[in-house]
Amino acid sequence: MKEYKFPDGFLWGSGTAAQQIEPSDENTRDGKSETIWERAFKEQENRFFEGEFAQNNFYEKFKEDLSIAKGLNFNSLRLSISWARLMPDGINVNQKAVDYYNELFDEMNRLEIKPFITLYHFDMPMWAQDRGGWTNPEIVELFVEYAKESFKLFGDKVHKWFTFNEPSVHIEGQYYSNWHYPFKVNFKDGIRCMFNINKAQALIVKEFRKQNVWGTEIGTVLAISPSIPRSDGEADVRAAEVCDLFHWKAFLEPALGKEFPSELIELIKSKGVFPEDVNVEEYNEIFKGQKIDLLGINYYAPGRVKALDYIPNFNEDECHITPNTHFFGKYSPSHKRINPYRGWEIYPKGLYIMLKILQDNYGNIKSFVSENGMGVQDEERYRVDGVIQDDYRIDFIGEHLMWVAEAIAEGANCIGYHMWTYIDNWSWANAYKNRYGYIELDLETNERKEKLSAAWIREVAKTNKLNF
Ligand code: BG6
Repeated sequence: MKEYKFPDGFLWGSGTAAQQIEPSDENTRDGKSETIWERAFKEQENRFFEGEFAQNNFYEKFKEDLSIAKGLNFNSLRLSISWARLMPDGINVNQKAVDYYNELFDEMNRLEIKPFITLYHFDMPMWAQDRGGWTNPEIVELFVEYAKESFKLFGDKVHKWFTFNEPSVHIEGQYYSNWHYPFKVNFKDGIRCMFNINKAQALIVKEFRKQNVWGTEIGTVLAISPSIPRSDGEADVRAAEVCDLFHWKAFLEPALGKEFPSELIELIKSKGVFPEDVNVEEYNEIFKGQKIDLLGINYYAPGRVKALDYIPNFNEDECHITPNTHFFGKYSPSHKRINPYRGWEIYPKGLYIMLKILQDNYGNIKSFVSENGMGVQDEERYRVDGVIQDDYRIDFIGEHLMWVAEAIAEGANCIGYHMWTYIDNWSWANAYKNRYGYIELDLETNERKEKLSAAWIREVAKTNKLNF
């Protein structure tokens, strides 16, 4: 066992998102308009595990839930504002939402839990999706207005702002892998979204700089993990580079005020599938200099990548083209450790590798781990004397924290660790299948109960030390 000490002021906490903790039932939404998730559930309930679509009542119980967070010695918490709640029609502000978020952020500040607030976490309002969502530049303008309004309303209460959560995953879900509404496969639409989301990001950073009299910071949250090639053969290594370009470099580089990676544009153009209406120069002009203050790293698993073992057909309908069928391949090493409930590899060192890449290649941008965690099905079977004995979660988090500590010791600029997510919550298509929390949620009674890992993280956060 070794002791790992974290820097003073290290951020301990957790992340979550509006759609996963606020009410979605039409009758209890308090003026929030429909989002793509509510529409998806209405139209295709079978896509959701056991047809469940419910929230964990944070909206009503936030005081209780925040006191639980305080009890775990959290000093920060990332939540998102729901665009559909704050501006249900995209133009007018919903006073009930203003009251709710004010109360919520006030309570966080009272408890000295710093509010980290994401503006968009997968939850497109339906009226915006009906107009094309991120494929439509007009939606970008309306989103920037919503961001400006949010700064104006809550700027004095929020500690750190985040524009987006995992844009690459959302685009993948919406336009490549049939997982987020509108469940389309359309390669060019995916590319249009990439540029428009980066544009929204840059314009919001610019607005924030104008409005920021509070001395706070703005960042973005990316699903960012290293792609590990199957072999060191040229084709596999190249495939891993291309995967990184699609998955995170296409978002990180514009967020650092740089141009969209020209290598990726050239590659897509060379296959004849770059959208004709995307004017790269115009977009690059907007990205220029709009650099974030800090980066949220969502890390669950590395990418395992190989060269395609067939020649992809770029002449087919663009509805058949996706990054990981036409540009690179995925593979599964036989030795890998896996979380079987989510199907994700467990590779804690990947977080260290990513932090080192940011240190060495991206100016050691200030970062924190904004999501990392382990969703497990049927945790009930681990209950002993009334308490779920989630040693596997302690091991998972402990191992990742150990690698974070190693990277920090070598100079990586990582200022915190937020686990996903402290109280079990609803998880998109997986609904309540996998549970992530330090705190168990009883779906029948809504009761919150500590798992074994709660006492463990309480001590780690209190002492700012890990013995592992
Ligand atoms: C991240 C998201 O992709 O992973 C979260 O930002 C999500 O919203 C988390 O819940 C875990 O994934 P899942 O699908 O198991 O909930």
